[in-house]
Amino acid sequence: MARLGVNIDHVATVRQARGGREPDPIAAAVLVELAGADGLVVHLREDRRHIHDQDLARLRELVQTKLNLEMAADDSMAKIALNIKPHLVTLVPERRLELTTEGGLDVVGQREKLKRIVDLLHDGGMPVSLFVDPDLGQIKAAHKIAVDYVELHTGRYANARLLKEEEAELAAISQAARLAYKLGIGVSAGHGLTYRNVKRLTQIPEIVEYNIGHSIIARAVLIGLERAVREMKQLVS
Ligand code: PXP
Repeated sequence: MARLGVNIDHVATVRQARGGREPDPIAAAVLVELAGADGLVVHLREDRRHIHDQDLARLRELVQTKLNLEMAADDSMAKIALNIKPHLVTLVPERRLELTTEGGLDVVGQREKLKRIVDLLHDGGMPVSLFVDPDLGQIKAAHKIAVDYVELHTGRYANARLLKEEEAELAAISQAARLAYKLGIGVSAGHGLTYRNVKRLTQIPEIVEYNIGHSIIARAVLIGLERAVREMKQLVS
């Protein structure tokens, strides 16, 4: 049965719209866990546009399932992770002007830089995941720097307009998942997943965890957070 990690960045996005204290991502985390999610995911961005350092510290105290911290692969973020000690760190590429994470990490091109950060986090006792495109070269490079997990970027699958494109993306995700599994790397998937498009991915047995944010929070606005989380948990299971 696959696990569901719920990304609550967009609860903080709504809070930031008015710069006040509501809605509190901590309250959302409590409801997400009560609804049966297997973990919480937050992305602490360089510009702190949604989740703040203080949210992260409070979540670390409160989360009883698993706290997955997404962050850029740099020294200042590594320092924060070493201090907070989330259950998992997911390294993601970060560009200042992007609306959301746009692509996977270039592990092939940035192997040395990534290895240094992965080693630092490992020395601090944290497992590390790399957010990568479903590309066999990237998976092999991830294996070479001894990461524990890869999170396969499902954005191209989610954005596919033609059935043919969707099939090709699904095949790429499936192949990448199989290779990672064979190399002993845990496989999760995320980005752009919705109540409609997640179903086909669940046929890939190597994917053991889904990290989903925007679609759940968008649905929660209309039908409530607990129900939205419960429905997604049922779909990924
Ligand atoms: N996984 C990673 C690595 C991400 O960067 C994001 C977006 O913050 C997600 C999952 C969640 O994506 P979405 O909000 O589209 O479900």
